[in-house]
Parts: sequence; C-alpha cells; structure tokens
Amino acid sequence: MINFMRQTTGFGQSQPQTAKMVGIAPLRSDATCPPEPHSGFGRQPFILPGYLDRFIFNDLHGVYTPDYKKAESNLHNSREDNLKYLGTYLPRSMAESFNIFDELYDNPLIRSMFTKKDKLRVLDIGAGTGGNSLGFVYALNRADLGSKPVSIISIDGNEDALDYQKILIGKMNEISGSTIGLQQIHFEFYSGKEFTESLHEIAAGQEFDVVMVFKFVSEFLNRDFSAFKGLYQDLTRLVSDLLNCEGLFIIADVVSRDSNQKRDFTSVILSQEIAGYLQESTETLSPIVPVPCGLWAPKCRGTNCYTERGFSVSHTRKQNIMDPKIRTIC
Ligand SMILES: C[S@@+](CC[C@H](N)C(=O)[O-])C[C@H]1O[C@@H](n2cnc3c(N)ncnc32)[C@H](O)[C@@H]1O
Repeated sequence: MINFMRQTTGFGQSQPQTAKMVGIAPLRSDATCPPEPHSGFGRQPFILPGYLDRFIFNDLHGVYTPDYKKAESNLHNSREDNLKYLGTYLPRSMAESFNIFDELYDNPLIRSMFTKKDKLRVLDIGAGTGGNSLGFVYALNRADLGSKPVSIISIDGNEDALDYQKILIGKMNEISGSTIGLQQIHFEFYSGKEFTESLHEIAAGQEFDVVMVFKFVSEFLNRDFSAFKGLYQDLTRLVSDLLNCEGLFIIADVVSRDSNQKRDFTSVILSQEIAGYLQESTETLSPIVPVPCGLWAPKCRGTNCYTERGFSVSHTRKQNIMDPKIRTIC
C-alpha cells in the first residue's frame, strides 16, 4: 500500500510547495514529524466493534470462510459470496484502513491540515461491501478533528456489495451519531482506458480530500495482466487531478500474485508503477509513507522494494487473524 499526499505546507525540504502526496502510514521523520512508531505490526490488535460484529454475523448473516482463490475476483459476487466477504474479508479491510488513517491522523501536520478543513470529501474507488470506508469512518470518529460534514462517493461494479456498504455506514451513523453522507455509483469498468475516462467523467469538476483505492486494481490484474498493466500508474496520474490541496491518496492492495502465479507479486507491480509515476515530469503527488519513500523518493532508483506490516484482527468467529498485511513500497 502507498499513501500519497498533496500539500501546500512542507513535509520536508525536498517537497515543492504545492506538492500533493501519496502514501501508506506514518510520515517523514523530520523535525516536525515523529519517527514511524512500529516494528512491523499494527500498533494494536484490531477488534471488530461489538455492534458491528453482532450486526454482521447475527443480523446480516455474514460467514467466516477464507477462500484465497475466490477472493481474487469479487466483481460478480452473488449475495452468498458477498455474505462470505462480509464475514471474512470486510473485518480485515476495516482493520487495515483503520490502522492507516489512525496513524496518519496522529501525525501533527496531517492532523492540523485535516482539522482546518471545513468539510471532508472522500472518493472510494472499488468500495465493495464497505470495509475500508468503515475503517476510515471509525478512525475519523476517534480522531477528534473537529466536527465537519463528511461525504463519501463510492464506486463499484457490484450493486449488492454497495447495498451492504450503505447498510453498514448507516449502522455506524446510528451507533456513533456520525452523519456520514454516502453517494453510491454502480459502475463496471471494462478496460483500462475506459476506466480512466469514466472516472474523469464521474468525478468531473469535483475535488477530494481523500481518495481511497483498496484491493481493487489487483482484481483487474488477476483478470488479464497484460491488458491492465500500467493501471496503478494511470490511476495515480488521474487521482492527482482529483485531489485538492493537502489531499491524501491511499492505495492498498493484496500482496499476493494471482493464484496461477502468472504475474509478479502485486507489491512489486505497485512499486514499479508508482516509481514510474514519480519519474514522470508532470507528477504532482509525493509519497509520504512508507517513511523511506517520504524521505528519499526524489533520489530513489529502486523499484522492487517494499516493507511489510501485519495487523492482528479479531471478531467472534475468529481470534487473532494475522493474515492482513500491508506491504509498503519504497
Ligand atoms: C476485493 S474487493 C475490495 C472491496 C473493498 N475496497 C475492501 O477493501 O474490502 C474489490 C471490489 O472491486 C470491485 N471491482 C472489481 N472489478 C471491477 C470493475 N471492473 N468495475 C467496477 N468494480 C470492480 C468488485 O466489485 C469488488 O467490490
């Protein structure tokens, strides 16, 4: 996963004044930013909040049943598939997203930038059943960044998954008293070119404070690697036009290869394509995490490296799942 950010106040000497940035978790360890406080694992085990646990497993009948091969493709999930996703992968997505945002908001510069904003506009591409948007909202509710309207625009090709996202965000609003506005766009992208063109149309004229893309691009790569090669880079270029000043772009994806092992590990592809983006003369985003990327990106010539973080996730159907990992590229 990579976090970028667009900013107007310096994260570091090497950043131009109007840089946007991309990123993963914590930031530069310069004078104003604390060093990354981890040693490889999330700072706390993530326990699915009780009300969501009961809602997902008892009311919605989510099912815990890991199936790594099925998890490669969720676009045409049936209701039954989505219930399995809800019980198995949604808590992981929520944990990953929660940890990322919780740590980002802890950074004094990001905290102050986000506290100053009078509203937060979020774009969630490939939102699915809503795991990463739930993690985003959960971290926001804890962060105390001042009360402000928050609106999320979600795009996904699976309408049933979007219905679950709506129900779950509604539940969070009900329990936490938050008033997250949600607009959903049911849209299936068929080709890389059409993907970027349609996204431009969908988001026309809008600027976002946060753009999240969680475990989405790998589904295209699994389907047809040669057709969708370059999508991370195209997407990053596109998002750089959609982010407002001091906006955050988070790309998180699975670490694995496709199950046929016909292509490289996703982390390596992501790393290579982001390096490609950063070398473009028109790039306006700068990486903020992993920390080494935030510090050395302008000089870095590496393309295959990444750091790995794992988070422990627990809920009533399974304790201490250590599977979710975020490999941060640098
Ligand atoms: C693995 S899920 C991730 C969902 C959510 N972001 C998360 O982290 O839990 C991938 C999502 O991408 C969507 N997706 C995959 N290919 C798509 C396409 N061609 N057009 C639109 N959505 C697509 C699927 O419907 C699915 O909801």
